Amino acid sequence: MIYDKLDNFKEDFLWGSASAAYQVEGAYDIDGKGPSIWDKFSEVPGKTYKGTNGKVAVDHYNRYKEDIALMKEMGLKAYRFSISWSRIYPKGRGEINEKGLEFYDNLIDELIRSKIKPIITIYHWDLPQYLQDLYGGWESREIIDDFNNYCITLYKRYGGKVKYWITLNEQNVFMLLGYKLGIHPPGVKDEKRMLKANHIASLANAKAIVSFREYVTNGMVGPSFAFTPNYAYTCKPEDVLARENAEDMNCHWWLDAYCFGNYPAFALSYYEKQGIAPEIEDGDLELLEKGKPDFIGINYYRSETVEENPINGINDFEEINTSGKKGTSKDYGIPGNFKTIKNPYLERTNWDWEIDPTGLRIGIRRINSRYRLPILVTENGLGEFDKLEQNDVINDEYRIKFIKNHILACKQAVTDGVELLGYCTWSFTDLLSWLNGYQKRYGFVYVDRDENSEKELKRIKKNSFYWYKNVIETNGKDL
Ligand code: BG6
Repeated sequence: MIYDKLDNFKEDFLWGSASAAYQVEGAYDIDGKGPSIWDKFSEVPGKTYKGTNGKVAVDHYNRYKEDIALMKEMGLKAYRFSISWSRIYPKGRGEINEKGLEFYDNLIDELIRSKIKPIITIYHWDLPQYLQDLYGGWESREIIDDFNNYCITLYKRYGGKVKYWITLNEQNVFMLLGYKLGIHPPGVKDEKRMLKANHIASLANAKAIVSFREYVTNGMVGPSFAFTPNYAYTCKPEDVLARENAEDMNCHWWLDAYCFGNYPAFALSYYEKQGIAPEIEDGDLELLEKGKPDFIGINYYRSETVEENPINGINDFEEINTSGKKGTSKDYGIPGNFKTIKNPYLERTNWDWEIDPTGLRIGIRRINSRYRLPILVTENGLGEFDKLEQNDVINDEYRIKFIKNHILACKQAVTDGVELLGYCTWSFTDLLSWLNGYQKRYGFVYVDRDENSEKELKRIKKNSFYWYKNVIETNGKDL
């Protein structure tokens, strides 16, 4: 629909920004924190860009007050951050580390004093290494109770102060990259193991939601999903079918489990025929059914275009561009199902991510139509090389353009009738990108460090900082 006039965002719209513990905190072994799988994985040569790791990151652990003062100056309404499981339970279970809990007490209290609503992500990929060693992490059903126990500890401690909670961040990404492509920890390349671990994570997610209802009154909980809506390359029915296949395998596989308590028929039957479908035990579907979310968090960066893939066609896994050298990523596909292809209508970033604000509107609409739940955009942003110019200026007009067009897409989705709780950019300050080091920057606030040196980690406001401040002040009327 093309409108003459768009609806306004509601008055309590959550204008936010997001981060994750491993990517900002640093202090990787301070105050009793135990190692996470990322602390270990990043030590293996060749796994991350120029061997970057989160030992110091952007030192948010020590500078959270300075960072929150900048958020306050901007007028941010919400800050989404994750809790490091191994700060709370150094071994993932057993003894609690009070110091870890205190850090998040302080962070949350400082946010509330600054009139910023905390949004907690319970799990953003940094599994305690101990649990990985003990029973193989997400591949063991033992994790369901350990995760639930960790969640309950957080609900009891912060549930009275924090309304919005995210259970798992991008289960689809940490499963695909960790167990199929093998480029995230634990570095496994086995789809059967991926589907098994993924099923267990879905159960853990559901159980955590069931407990949430018991411990947090007046709260809202949901997972954050990395949503990449698929387009058919042409209107040739075979391409349209490829789109249906991709949507089922890449999106509904996770979202149906969260919201319907079961798996989409096509993808399930495909995996069964391949002999790799997860084992569904008695009681599993009942648990999924009980643990449905209050909203869907979506992390949106790009759309993907697909076409028919013959039975003997592309069978490559995705080759990801982690250098920022445009044109180095490769298409991927599943034989007989779909393969990706460049969309001729869309520009790409230097990391080959297609820039598509309308895709966000389409994605929000698709999720809303299928699942009838409110939506919170939990991540959206542009990773780019930024240039620190003289007099501490960072002229990131490209980022302003990107975010502006995506907020406009949100406004159109709101006008379309969708209930949108808020919009969080990725990210507030620059931070460590898991596989791309410090060169791929996302923040409104530049952090002066790179792969070679931490320098002084000075915070410098980019032009986009002032622009987003005005967007918030005008509640999105002035873009
Ligand atoms: C999301 C993650 O996948 O995208 C973030 O939740 C991540 O943690 C962000 O940093 C951007 O990805 P990248 O690879 O550009 O850092």
